[in-house]
Amino acid sequence: MAHMALEEKESLEVRCNQILRNMEASLTARDRVGIQDFVLLDAYTSESAVLDNLRKRFHENLIYTYIGTLLVSVNPYKDLDIFSSKQMDTYMGVNFFELPPHIYALADNVFRTMQSEFNNHFILISGESGAGKTEASKKILQFYAVSCPSTRLLNNIRDRLLLSNPVLEAFGNAKTLKNDNSSRFGKYMDIQFDHQGGAVGGHILSYLLEKSRVVHQNHGERNFHIFYQLVEGGEEELLRWLGLERNCKNYRYLVQGDCAKVSSINDKSEWRTVKKALSVIEFSKSDIEHLFGIIASVLHLGNIEFEADAQGYAFLNSNQEMHWVSKLLGIPNQVLQQGLTHRKIEAKAEEVFSPFSVEHAVYARDALAKAIYGRTFTWLVNKINESLANQDTSRNTVIGLLDIYGFEVFNVNSFEQFCINYCNEKLQQLFIQLTLKSEQEEYEMEGIEWEPVPYFNNKIICDLVEEKFRGIISLLDEECLRPGEATDLTFLEKIEEKIGGHPHFVTHKLADQKTRKTLERGDFRLLHYAGEVTYCVVGFLDKNNDLLYRNGKEVMRQSKNAIIKHCFPSSEPDSKKRPETVITQFKSSLVGLTDILMSKEPWYVRCIKPNESKQPGNFDDVLVRHQVKYLGLMEHLRVRRAGFAYRRKYEIFLQRYKPLCPDTWPNWRGTAAEGVQRLIKHLGYKSDEYKMGRTKIFIRHPRTLFTTEDAFQVCKHKLATRIQAKYKGYRVKGDFLKQKEAATRIETCWRGLMARKEREKRAWAVKVIKKFIKGFMTRYQPACIDNSEYLAYVRQNYLTRLSDNLPKTVLDKDSWLTPPPIMQEASQILKKVYIRHMVRKYIRGLTPQRKTQLLLKVQTSSLFRGKKENYPSSVGRPFADTRICSEDINIKVLQMIQPEQIKYSVPVVKYDRNGFRPRPRQLIFTHKAAYLVKEAKIRQRIDYSFFKGVSVSNLSDNFFILHVRCEDLKQKGDLVLQCDFLFEALTKLSVITNKQNYINVVQGSVRFDIQPGREGFVDFKSGQESAVYRAKNGHLMVESTRTKSR
Ligand SMILES: Nc1ncnc2c1ncn2[C@@H]1O[C@H](COP(=O)(O)OP(=O)(O)OP(=O)(O)O)[C@@H](O)[C@H]1O
Ligand SMILES: [Mg+2]
Repeated sequence: MAHMALEEKESLEVRCNQILRNMEASLTARDRVGIQDFVLLDAYTSESAVLDNLRKRFHENLIYTYIGTLLVSVNPYKDLDIFSSKQMDTYMGVNFFELPPHIYALADNVFRTMQSEFNNHFILISGESGAGKTEASKKILQFYAVSCPSTRLLNNIRDRLLLSNPVLEAFGNAKTLKNDNSSRFGKYMDIQFDHQGGAVGGHILSYLLEKSRVVHQNHGERNFHIFYQLVEGGEEELLRWLGLERNCKNYRYLVQGDCAKVSSINDKSEWRTVKKALSVIEFSKSDIEHLFGIIASVLHLGNIEFEADAQGYAFLNSNQEMHWVSKLLGIPNQVLQQGLTHRKIEAKAEEVFSPFSVEHAVYARDALAKAIYGRTFTWLVNKINESLANQDTSRNTVIGLLDIYGFEVFNVNSFEQFCINYCNEKLQQLFIQLTLKSEQEEYEMEGIEWEPVPYFNNKIICDLVEEKFRGIISLLDEECLRPGEATDLTFLEKIEEKIGGHPHFVTHKLADQKTRKTLERGDFRLLHYAGEVTYCVVGFLDKNNDLLYRNGKEVMRQSKNAIIKHCFPSSEPDSKKRPETVITQFKSSLVGLTDILMSKEPWYVRCIKPNESKQPGNFDDVLVRHQVKYLGLMEHLRVRRAGFAYRRKYEIFLQRYKPLCPDTWPNWRGTAAEGVQRLIKHLGYKSDEYKMGRTKIFIRHPRTLFTTEDAFQVCKHKLATRIQAKYKGYRVKGDFLKQKEAATRIETCWRGLMARKEREKRAWAVKVIKKFIKGFMTRYQPACIDNSEYLAYVRQNYLTRLSDNLPKTVLDKDSWLTPPPIMQEASQILKKVYIRHMVRKYIRGLTPQRKTQLLLKVQTSSLFRGKKENYPSSVGRPFADTRICSEDINIKVLQMIQPEQIKYSVPVVKYDRNGFRPRPRQLIFTHKAAYLVKEAKIRQRIDYSFFKGVSVSNLSDNFFILHVRCEDLKQKGDLVLQCDFLFEALTKLSVITNKQNYINVVQGSVRFDIQPGREGFVDFKSGQESAVYRAKNGHLMVESTRTKSR
């Protein structure tokens, strides 16, 4: 439901927008491009004003303008983007005045009136050659094809209706000087609709095909399209079968106009269209074969040439073309030859063949060609009608489309123009009658006084042409039928005699001097309603007789070609009784047409040709003015305007303008007429400006309506804004409520969801906590279901914590995280593994130098650790390779000890053996001996083999005593030395000498040999300050501060 309401709302909105747009467009267009209905033109009697309006619109590509419900259409000679299916949609079911004028609007209105009133209509499309009649009729047909309801059956009929056009155009249209696709026949087409508006059938009537074109074309013109289409587009095989060559120039009937090829015409593609159309209209294969057989035979016929024999009679020499005609029409060659060269004369009971002169033979040949083509065309129309026939016999209504030749005036006008212009006079009569009648009826019906309008009634001209016994047609027929030597000139004399003095008729003989100059002797002039036309009588009799010699018909009756057989039936009356003349046939067909039209509601499309050169954008004032005149536009306009320029049903008028009065807006409760009365009172209409009919209001002057319309436009904008605001408010409110509802719903759902989640979470938490507590309580029990998860948690927790708190260095091994009881064993293993891992990592990271250093340190440790007080402070100090570089050792000393390789050297303080004076010295170890050096002198060399040992105190001094074995008295005794790098020097010494146990750490006092046999003492003690001095007892006293043990 809500969905439907939304859709309705949307479509309403779209429609409102569209109507608003259209109204705005037409309002702004009024100033720019003139008015769209001539009825609203103030200067409606001025031809120039009408012309101006047409021109203005034409230059804006607005080719359509109304005069009430009549549509004036100016040929744009270019494709305009106004015939799309979108445009069709726009115009479907929309009121006439709501949208700019369009042929679709007219078509739609006709259709809807037919539907609502269930009556028949016709649309008369008129205009001169090239004005766009045929195009207009096609547009209307296309509109119905799209707008009517469709089913498969209906589509079938629709396609045939549409496709009948290209076929008829191929056979009935030709290029003329005026139009490259000129219809050379009049066409009336009925479209039949069922009560639901579906197109269920159609019927076509054709009028007066211009047969003479088959055998003769003026310069710059062509024969009927189909000949060129066949020759240009026909398949090779077909052409071979027809005996044709693909060259139009080879056929006499195709080249007289000398323009077989025209750029605007594509014969090849048209050929394909026609072939396709023929199959859709259900022409059988044999129909098609016979049809093209006939077309080809006409071409062959045209090429037959006669020669004169000795007596001047025609005979046929070359039989080639004859052979093809005979083959294609299925007539024995002999019979055909006889028929073309002889005439049958019946004398009493006898039949005599009289030979033709060459001239006669050519005439007979052409007559035959015309007859064949003309009758085939009629057959074609009938065949199309069979295919369009409505199968459904239930009552239906009809829209007729009349696309008929317009008034024609050439430099030289002949019989054909006479017929055409006569036809136009008849249609004008019909127009006057129907228009006046309807107008008059409308005023009568509405109870409005009718003031007659002066207009020219062309009945007088119709009578001049068609009156029995006195009219031109009667006189022409009389002249054609009378025995004796009747000629075109005798006909002229006759009409001069019988109707001379008629105000609309003049000839050279009858004219005054001035007029005579404009007339030839063989001319007569008619003052048609649309203007003067001068006709040349030459050929009138001949064309009217349209004689086909009797044996010509007889020959045709023998044809095996089914179409020819059908066209020349044996039931046709024989020559004894002369057939009806062309003009009489035409007259009767027009009477028939008038009857058909009179019984229907008329609608008009008047087509105007803007220029003679088929150019877009070129508006030839003189040419258009002429057409405006003879199309009767001014008269129509005058009639429409005679009483009231504008009328509209009360309901429609009220509906449109009710916003202009507070009483009628938004709704009027009373009748529409009362509403309109109230409305116009409010608007201040004066009493002579309008009349109230029974169902309609009549407004006399356009400006009254314009004022109302302008007021409406202003008001409309205000209203539109208000409606828009209301509507927007309504929509926004609707949207808001919807959003609010949605928000509440989402909120509820969300809250529910969250609550459920919370509940689940709590339940889960309770379970977990319970389990945890139980696990905790049973944690020391053997693993069981109650504590397994807890223990797993404890394990994991410990391992996670451990991984975050692992010792960082090898020395940090005591900072191992205390494990929970169940992890004791695992922790120990892990600790071991981890420390091993760290150690390995540490070892792998050591350089060889560092390793050597460490080995030395290990050595030092084994020597002094726990023994000497200041040992710990030495641990952190790295050992050096040597403390005196070789540059600082005197060169002489170096030279002396070089061979022994210096392993280590260090500065020391040597205390004299006597007196204990301190002396700075260098102590150098080679791999053989230790040297005590003072600058360039070696003061003492102690070979390692004389080395007795080293004494150091256990305190934190840096003293050591090197004990030497003295073998003779000359030798110096032990050395008392102080060295800042004591641990380093002694470690090196022990490594070099490879003797570790030589080092004694002593307490208190060390005895040493000053000289062999003379002893001295060094006493060690710890005190407040470090001090070295000679004690009173003659000992060397070494005091050192106590270092804190680590
Ligand atoms: N509405 C249109 N839009 C574009 N071109 C058009 C339109 N109407 C007519 N024409 C052009 O004008 C040419 C002549 O139009 P159309 O054949 O309808 O004339 P007509 O009035 O039927 O002439 P005739 O009396 O010779 O048959 C068309 O071939 C087309 O080129
Ligand atoms: Mg046409």
